[in-house]
Amino acid sequence: MNISVIGGGSWGLALSSVLSKNNHAVLVYDANPKIVKKVNTLHICVQLDETIPADIRATSDIATAIRFSDVVLFAVPTKVLRDALAATIAVLDGPKLFINAAKGIEPETFLRVSEIFTEMVPAEQLKGFVALSGPSHAEEVIRGMTTLITCASDNEADALFAQHLFHNQDYFRVYSSTDLKGVELGGALKNIFALASGLIAGKGLGDNARAALITRGLVEMQKFYEHYGADTQSLFGLTGIGDLIVTCTSEHSRNYQAGYKIGHGKDLEETLHSMTMVVEGIRTCEAAYKYAKKYDLELPIIEQIYNVLFHKLDPEIAYRNLFERSRKKEL
Ligand SMILES: NC(=O)c1ccc[n+]([C@@H]2O[C@H](COP(=O)([O-])OP(=O)(O)OC[C@H]3O[C@@H](n4cnc5c(N)ncnc54)[C@H](O)[C@@H]3O)[C@@H](O)[C@H]2O)c1
Repeated sequence: MNISVIGGGSWGLALSSVLSKNNHAVLVYDANPKIVKKVNTLHICVQLDETIPADIRATSDIATAIRFSDVVLFAVPTKVLRDALAATIAVLDGPKLFINAAKGIEPETFLRVSEIFTEMVPAEQLKGFVALSGPSHAEEVIRGMTTLITCASDNEADALFAQHLFHNQDYFRVYSSTDLKGVELGGALKNIFALASGLIAGKGLGDNARAALITRGLVEMQKFYEHYGADTQSLFGLTGIGDLIVTCTSEHSRNYQAGYKIGHGKDLEETLHSMTMVVEGIRTCEAAYKYAKKYDLELPIIEQIYNVLFHKLDPEIAYRNLFERSRKKEL
């Protein structure tokens, strides 16, 4: 099949490599002409400095990319999603199946990515929507390393179709799900705990503390899911505990790296300035904190991380605040 990909960064090109290995023809659009040139001439992913299959082509013309296929994979940071989607809608030549690989929530509206698509794309042009999520760092996928991931859609047929596109028997195993809400929520929320895990590592607090964070983070996610009306079963899947583990323990995680730097005493602006790639957890933390306040949900880790990020609370004090809470039952 032909597949259009919007966003030729780390994740867009790692997924394009999977599609190419599955014998699909891929055309990538990126807003940065330097990225387009490197894909077409050197066949590399600039952000990761990794080689990609030579048959992956790129263009700076979004209309050409959109005309290429009725299946459009989005892999741009959520911060620029509305811009990229508006540019896409302006050149749509018919109904499309949209697959989204970005992980985040819009802080101002608390909309999930699927809801932004529903809000912006005219209903007759939105053939379907699938979210792709799970424990999957681009650094490993682009090298063909073992990865398990989930395709979720309200419409099972669309999830199964996307599963078929991406599934690769050698290294990329794809599951399907109809819990779109839970899958999108898990992919977004876990980034907050990755920041916290980086802070713990930056402070040298040790592995016990990290395991505790992952466990208590999962409890906060469960409270969130229950209030939000998502299926808590997804917490036990790849897009819940699976993604939480990889993002809280892997040095590939940008959110973990950002937390680590802040834990080492760098401030937020300095940290973001030093990172070449997107740190979705910051916007998601803002969104989750505001949601929790609005509905009076007690989510202590999210609250402390929010205060570290947005009110320059000393991570040491955030740590003390968590420790000095009254004694509780575990579950
Ligand atoms: N990198 C990973 O391992 C990974 C894994 C899973 C999910 N994700 C998610 O995928 C999303 C993208 O992350 P990434 O790591 O690829 O980021 P990245 O920073 O590596 O790449 C983003 C790309 O988007 C392009 N871009 C920016 N604005 C654009 C626009 N308006 N139109 C088209 N292209 C535009 C940039 O030029 C850049 O090449 C994030 O939500 C991230 O959380 C990333």
